[in-house]
Amino acid sequence: MDNLHCEIDAIRQRLGQKLLILGHHYQREEIVAHTDMQGDSFQLSAAAAQNTNCETIIFCGVHFMAETADILANSPENLARRNGQRVDVLLPDLDAGCSMAEMATRQDVENCWNSLTTLFDAEEIVPVTYVNSTAELKAFCGQHGGLACTSTNARAVLSKALQKNSQKQRVLFFPDQHLGRNTALKMGIPESQMSLWNSIEPEFGGNSSEQIQNSRIILWNGYCCVHQKFVSGHIDEIRKLFPKIRVIVHPECRRDVVEKADESGSTAFILKQIAESPAGSQWAVGTESRFVERLARQNPDKTIVNLAFQPSYCETMGLIELPKLAAMLLSAESGLKRNIIRVDDSIAPDALRCLLRMLQAGS
Ligand code: 13P
Ligand code: SF4
Repeated sequence: MDNLHCEIDAIRQRLGQKLLILGHHYQREEIVAHTDMQGDSFQLSAAAAQNTNCETIIFCGVHFMAETADILANSPENLARRNGQRVDVLLPDLDAGCSMAEMATRQDVENCWNSLTTLFDAEEIVPVTYVNSTAELKAFCGQHGGLACTSTNARAVLSKALQKNSQKQRVLFFPDQHLGRNTALKMGIPESQMSLWNSIEPEFGGNSSEQIQNSRIILWNGYCCVHQKFVSGHIDEIRKLFPKIRVIVHPECRRDVVEKADESGSTAFILKQIAESPAGSQWAVGTESRFVERLARQNPDKTIVNLAFQPSYCETMGLIELPKLAAMLLSAESGLKRNIIRVDDSIAPDALRCLLRMLQAGS
């Protein structure tokens, strides 16, 4: 392993500014050690959008994140700045997907849209996609006046979507029902004004037409298997053991977990809250365990534990391993780049529109 670390350092030095290595907070420690920047989905998207001088981005994360980086790094504006030179985005393991992103296909979302537009004008519905989705769905949103969100800016995006025209405005939110529901509840929208769309049901996703007509938020039936492992009983148990502990969770957790926790927010929010808390603070964290373990190492003056007693790792994030990162660096240096993630030109412009609207909505 030491050899690999030295090899990676040497190639990074030789490539200098031509290479940017981005890593999501859920990555392995040995990978994070070699990144130029680590962050949550929003921060990494913004970094890809702002990057002007590198030739290759190695994305240590999952497939939808690499797609997002490709779309933003190769926007017409960025291409013009680089005299047409593309940035290649490499994903060290092509199997590193996100099971939630695969829970909404373009066809199923289009079928849903076609059903909804038998009840409302298309202008009355704003499609909002969590960035954890395929580029095809981002393109769908771009085509239909919609936008993307991350867990950092879901509230700003939903507010923007609902204010678009009139009181009649409603949102179709996919794929994560929990982020959509938890965000809408925080905005004061009661669950009675939401419905859950199950794409395998033949009629209105398993709802009556009245239910859909009374809904301001139509939630796709997707979820993250990593965050579903947290249940509200874990909060009761941990509070019995540590009466002063603060519980902080990611909004991909279920409603009852988020409501029982002291705080909820994106990965970057969790990191900040814990970093800014006084020495001696105690935290139980309901999110991906590799990240929680790093928080504990970075904050030795605080007690930081996983909310559940069993760790909850994102297996696909864990597929990015040191030898695969080294292979990407070798391929970038040789000029024979492998594992390039390139979003098709037929959908990239619409997907870009959707992502730029998200970045404009702020965080
Ligand atoms: P963040 O938006 O907090 O980075 O979360 C991304 C993700 O995939 C969480 O499961
Ligand atoms: Fe997808 Fe969940 Fe892994 Fe995030 S933690 S990448 S949502 S499977």
